[in-house]
Amino acid sequence: MNEIIKPVTAESFQKMKRNNEKITMLTAYDCSTAKYIDECGIDSILVGDSLGMTILGYDTTINVTVEDMVTFTKAVSRGVKRALVIADMPFLSYQTSLEETVINAGKLIRAGAKAIKLEGASDFILKEINHLTKAGISVVGHLGFTPQYINTIGGYFIQGKSYEKTMALLDAAKKLEENGVFSIVLEMVPEESAKFISENLSVPTIGIGAGAYCDGQVLVIDDILGKYAGNIPKFVKQYANLKDIIKESVSNYNNDVKSGNFPSEQHSFKLTEEERNKLDSYGI
Ligand code: KIV
Repeated sequence: MNEIIKPVTAESFQKMKRNNEKITMLTAYDCSTAKYIDECGIDSILVGDSLGMTILGYDTTINVTVEDMVTFTKAVSRGVKRALVIADMPFLSYQTSLEETVINAGKLIRAGAKAIKLEGASDFILKEINHLTKAGISVVGHLGFTPQYINTIGGYFIQGKSYEKTMALLDAAKKLEENGVFSIVLEMVPEESAKFISENLSVPTIGIGAGAYCDGQVLVIDDILGKYAGNIPKFVKQYANLKDIIKESVSNYNNDVKSGNFPSEQHSFKLTEEERNKLDSYGI
């Protein structure tokens, strides 16, 4: 008999916060990785616009398009049975008009995401969150370091580094909460600030580079597996070194083909003896 799987929902996030149960989240961009992550019991999978760097080879996330996000969201959601799939709204897909925001968010939901994430808390973004949630689209906020605003932030800087800045982040987080987000990603914020913010919100915070006291944690899958070819931030814990495994395996394959060691009998299909005899006698 097939096991009945209870999918994680936005509601489950609230419950986990109330029960002091940490929420786990990882990014994924393809079907098989998403399947493995899901089978490990990770609560949520983020189709992050970090795919601009990890998959598409850009320097930042700002080149990622809605079409890119739709493609990868479809792939990920096909592999997932339990985890809550959240897709990032890419740069300029929600900063222009309410109408375009709902249309673009709808594309990601139709691609299989159960919720979308967007960065910032300007008055316009608050209005959009309100609008999206009323339209039946669940929203995750993203504060602290917000990679889509890299050009206005000016670099990869830790955010909320003073009392005033922490209070400003809390104020922004509360506004996100009031307008309907069910969770907030806090990126690159000092641990004490993230703790203070988390304790003063009713929605769960998901930290990345924000210390141990957030209600959950998210990391980029390529970083934890040691696959990403670029710089790995200080806040990443690396659990494997896929880069070395890939290079060693590919070098072995290269050598095997060049030397004739691959393919062997084990990897080849054979004709029946009768058919082979016909070939052998051809032209004799
Ligand atoms: O794009 C992404 O992967 C993200 C996470 C790093 C939070 O937004």
